[in-house]
Amino acid sequence: MVKIKIPATSANLGPGFDALGLALKMYNEVHMQETEGCDIASLDDTVIPTGKDNMIYINAKHLYNLCGRPFYGMKIRQINNIPMTRGLGSSSACIIGGLLGANALLGNPLQRQDILTLAADMEGHPDNIAPALLGGLVTSVMEDNKVWSISVPVSDNMRFAALIPDFEMSTEQARKILPHSVTRREAVFNLSRTALMTAALFSGELDCLKIAVDDKLHQPKRLELIPGGKDAMEICYELGAYGVYLSGAGPTIMAIIDSNAQDFAPIAKIMLEERGIYGWSIIMLDCDQEGAKFID
Ligand code: HSE
Repeated sequence: MVKIKIPATSANLGPGFDALGLALKMYNEVHMQETEGCDIASLDDTVIPTGKDNMIYINAKHLYNLCGRPFYGMKIRQINNIPMTRGLGSSSACIIGGLLGANALLGNPLQRQDILTLAADMEGHPDNIAPALLGGLVTSVMEDNKVWSISVPVSDNMRFAALIPDFEMSTEQARKILPHSVTRREAVFNLSRTALMTAALFSGELDCLKIAVDDKLHQPKRLELIPGGKDAMEICYELGAYGVYLSGAGPTIMAIIDSNAQDFAPIAKIMLEERGIYGWSIIMLDCDQEGAKFID
């Protein structure tokens, strides 16, 4: 049986829509073994699809087919720590887990670069996939069905506080509401901040983050769909966050805070409740620099 540990991810990082993402130290595990038929179960109490519609199963089968190898079925066991449909890369973890696991079971016919391109193709964009596979802060471009990406470390003077609402947000829905075109002013607004964001996270220039994290392409529209989202952002800034953005397509709000900040999560929770916002969980996370890896 092969076992893989895949990190959660946070995509966009504000302005870097479909381009930037980073990996976080919160992990799903995927265990896979060839078998006849579809044998899927969770090793924790997470409710997961246990039929042939399971995303790990679909991706494993896809790889077998691409490699021209007969697929008779798969035994899959999952440990899910990444909350689903919250903008923290749970679907990327399934895609990467399924493809890496199948590749290992087939004797590694594909290189990591092939897996990256294949996975981004399955997801439709590379910004969660690339950090899930590579770790670190990753900037990616998809061109001619190939992903060009570079992973760099995130400075260790910052941490990430994920404020996770108790409701889901479908990425498909959150993409449908976005405008099809933007002005040149908006394009420049975002591309200049995307570059600044990458440099600020890498170098640890914390004071740049509040400017770098702003966006005109997706956050304003999406925040309208997240009850309590704008309040959560305000609270994070009141508590001294350097930058706050919508993680992926949401609904999670991500605050970049000082690595020495104390009691951010419990105080933020109280402040949310004072504004009548209940049911959110707040998790403190560091950046994962390794990406998906095989475990014993
Ligand atoms: N870049 C994607 C989006 C991330 O914002 O729609 C979610 O998968």
